[in-house]
Amino acid sequence: MLLNGLVLDHLKKVYNNSTIALNSLSYEYPLDHGVIGIIGPNGAGKTTLLSILATVNQPTSGRAKLKGLDVVGDRIHLRKNISYLPQDIRPFLYSLSGRDYIIEYLRMRGENIRFLNERVEPLIEELNLQYIIDKPIGRVSGGEAKKIFIVAALSVDAEIYILDEPSAGLDPPSRIKLWSLIRSLAGDGKLVIVASHYTEELAIHCDEILILDKGSLLIHGSPSKILEKMFAIKEKIVVRGVENRSLNSVKKAVLNWGVDRIVSVGDTIFIYPREKNFYGLITKLRDIDTSWRIEVSNITLEDYVITLLGDSIESS
Ligand SMILES: Nc1ncnc2c1ncn2[C@@H]1O[C@H](COP(=O)(O)OP(=O)(O)O)[C@@H](O)[C@H]1O
Ligand SMILES: [Mg+2]
Repeated sequence: MLLNGLVLDHLKKVYNNSTIALNSLSYEYPLDHGVIGIIGPNGAGKTTLLSILATVNQPTSGRAKLKGLDVVGDRIHLRKNISYLPQDIRPFLYSLSGRDYIIEYLRMRGENIRFLNERVEPLIEELNLQYIIDKPIGRVSGGEAKKIFIVAALSVDAEIYILDEPSAGLDPPSRIKLWSLIRSLAGDGKLVIVASHYTEELAIHCDEILILDKGSLLIHGSPSKILEKMFAIKEKIVVRGVENRSLNSVKKAVLNWGVDRIVSVGDTIFIYPREKNFYGLITKLRDIDTSWRIEVSNITLEDYVITLLGDSIESS
């Protein structure tokens, strides 16, 4: 029987009797393995959700289960099966070398020491840490320290990996390696839950995505399902270099064209058409101001975030 990997049942978290960090989230992920991505702007509740799932924070009301185990009632049992990488992690001892730090961390978790090197060394190489791993962890760069914490978290032999912004501060090659490691965990039947600001990265690598905003679950599903639900047409028009005083002429030009949404982010306007035949609209826009740089590009999950957070322009 396959267990639901993740169940949230009216999960709520209120801090200091006033801040509603999670507002009654309900959700089910039906598989016991795979990669679930949590997206959302700052303050959306990602860290709160992950810390509750990691059993280091308690819900105010409602329930959450991971692979059938309750994050409150089964917390002791669950903890042994979870590896958690918090968002703002600090070393517990700055003088240890990176390698000793990882070993100490795993020892404290009660990992089987016999197999430690077999698991840790390949990860050190994979993330290109061999040149700094023997320096005191207090003397390495922020990105390098992050990678050491990632090696520690991924070396743990767990069923569930909960990673809060693991790719923040990493260079692009390291991010690709990190995702390859995360995907191989999923391939080994593990459940990985990752919060990130990098929408595109999550869209590429996650089986399932939850988008949070102000403590509420806005939408969930596979990245392609979310796009299908959100956008009628898979292309958008991007107009760059539009001064504020010209916003009205864009609005007017778009009038009478089938357009779902127009959003501005600074001097860039994103136009999301409702019908395929929008090339006449481009010609019209070009005629208004020849200095505008206009292009057509594919819809990605980033567009969902843009429509969520950009300034909406009424088209009628
Ligand atoms: N320990 C805390 N005490 C009080 N408020 C908190 C605490 N942690 C987070 N919050 C608040 O809860 C909300 C959600 O925060 P957080 O879960 O960190 O979001 P995210 O990780 O998406 O940025 C924010 O409004 C934040 O200010
Ligand atoms: Mg956070």
